[in-house]
Amino acid sequence: MHPDKAKWDRIYTERQSAAPQPAEVLLQNRHLLPQQGIALDLACGLGANSLLLAEQGLEVHAWDISSVAIEQLDDQAQQRQCLIHAQVRDVKSAPPEALSLDVLVVTHFLVRDMAADLLAALKPGGLLFYQTYCRDKVFEQGPGNPDYLLKDNELLQLFAGLKVRVYREESLLGDHNQGWRNQSMLVAEKPSLF
Ligand SMILES: C[S@@+](CC[C@H](N)C(=O)[O-])C[C@H]1O[C@@H](n2cnc3c(N)ncnc32)[C@H](O)[C@@H]1O
Repeated sequence: MHPDKAKWDRIYTERQSAAPQPAEVLLQNRHLLPQQGIALDLACGLGANSLLLAEQGLEVHAWDISSVAIEQLDDQAQQRQCLIHAQVRDVKSAPPEALSLDVLVVTHFLVRDMAADLLAALKPGGLLFYQTYCRDKVFEQGPGNPDYLLKDNELLQLFAGLKVRVYREESLLGDHNQGWRNQSMLVAEKPSLF
């Protein structure tokens, strides 16, 4: 068994928390989503993003390496009468097909080597919604391992070539008790000629 699967299965089995909320990059920018099309929530976890995308009217695929998370998402989707194609899948060895997606959402998952595959997976005009933790934090939150933390402005570099529609990264500026801290968010559109 893949070691990440065992780790995440254990986390989701032991976790007894309130229903997860969709990521801010979706909550704040939901109005930018198309009304139809194919969306993928990559490394979806319990799938709060997937549920929002399905409620928006998109055809949603949700992939995660943890079968425990996917089972819980299937239950949630059934309870909320949402259709979500939830699948246990190692996205590093089986990334999305080229030109298959209108919307790609990635939150709290960073595999730099996958950036080219993710760019390729978007159709022309497709939208990327990305949000994850940064190295420059104002308080301890998210992973400690810098390999899983974004460098300054790194999302812009990883997805250079896309048209930036929304970008937020406050870093260590100003009053640390205010604002949206510790993470970076990007909404970007694939140009028709890429
Ligand atoms: C921090 S959680 C984020 C979950 C969700 N995207 C969110 O924001 O709540 C990271 C997720 O990545 C998944 N994951 C880790 N490695 C993976 C892989 N190789 N393929 C698919 N999913 C993976 C884990 O199972 C876990 O659900």
